[in-house]
Amino acid sequence: MDVVIVAESPTPDEPTRDIYFEVKKRGLGVRYVPLQRLSVKIYNGATVVETRRGPLSASVVVIRGLGYVIDSNVLMRRISTLRILEQSGAVAINPVDALVNCRNKLETIYTLSKHGIPVPPTVVTEDLYYGYMAAKEMGKVVLKPIQGSRGFGAMLFEDPEQAFQVMRTLLIARNPLYIQKYVEKPNRDIRIIVIDGRAIGCMYRVSSGWKTNIAQGAVGVACTLTPELEELAVKATDAMGLVYSGVDIGEGREGYAVFEVNASPDWRGFKQATGINPAVHLAEYIQRVVKK
Ligand SMILES: Nc1ncnc2c1ncn2[C@@H]1O[C@H](COP(=O)(O)OP(=O)(O)O)[C@@H](O)[C@H]1O
Ligand SMILES: [Mg+2]
Repeated sequence: MDVVIVAESPTPDEPTRDIYFEVKKRGLGVRYVPLQRLSVKIYNGATVVETRRGPLSASVVVIRGLGYVIDSNVLMRRISTLRILEQSGAVAINPVDALVNCRNKLETIYTLSKHGIPVPPTVVTEDLYYGYMAAKEMGKVVLKPIQGSRGFGAMLFEDPEQAFQVMRTLLIARNPLYIQKYVEKPNRDIRIIVIDGRAIGCMYRVSSGWKTNIAQGAVGVACTLTPELEELAVKATDAMGLVYSGVDIGEGREGYAVFEVNASPDWRGFKQATGINPAVHLAEYIQRVVKK
């Protein structure tokens, strides 16, 4: 098989189907496998990753996420399984370590900051008093799940005492605290899709609330890609070690701030807003990798 696409869902979602069909259109062999069906067998010094149908061999494995509601045991197994596949010679898109680092919002913000990319002031801790003091100092703060997406679970506080009560509750439930200064921004942010070192398009995500995820009701509107935005998005994608990404950028009073870099971006809103199907560009890239 040339290309295997994996994700958690038993049936592929729309971006995954887009990739599947664009890859197939180019005459490559392609198969979708849910992560739950990937097993590892270690016998007599040999290791294989296989499904019920037998060993899986692929030039490229496209990983559309590691799963949503999973605990650390399942996450650990999936990461190892995909790493073994990667080490057996399959080119992982995106690379497994990059996917893991993007899933982790602490690792993401640290890596971006280290590469000189502007990010909001952020504190990550398990110390309630430390978190409380940070919330007091920052004023308006956002609390986010350290692993999260689509805006789910992100909360905004203007009152540090309310933040304190929620932080206390989060800690009791064994959640670390991810506390970020609120970036005063217009009723939108910027989403840029980067593929193979190039920004393929750009949209505003316009929203009535402070969260601008499409999943939270925001609407995508195509916008102009400036050289500055393109450079920022490509730099953020490279910093995270990704081949393709969706970069979220806030327009703060003091300039741009990168909120996060998505390693398996949903692009339904982007396709609608811009008329660009990222899968076309990604499939071209995959084709070049397979042909190498
Ligand atoms: N520090 C912040 N200041 C202002 N808005 C924010 C901040 N962090 C997140 N947001 C808003 O919430 C959205 C979701 O946050 P993000 O960090 O991208 O997490 P998710 O993985 O849930 O998409 C962002 O697109 C942005 O609109
Ligand atoms: Mg986001």
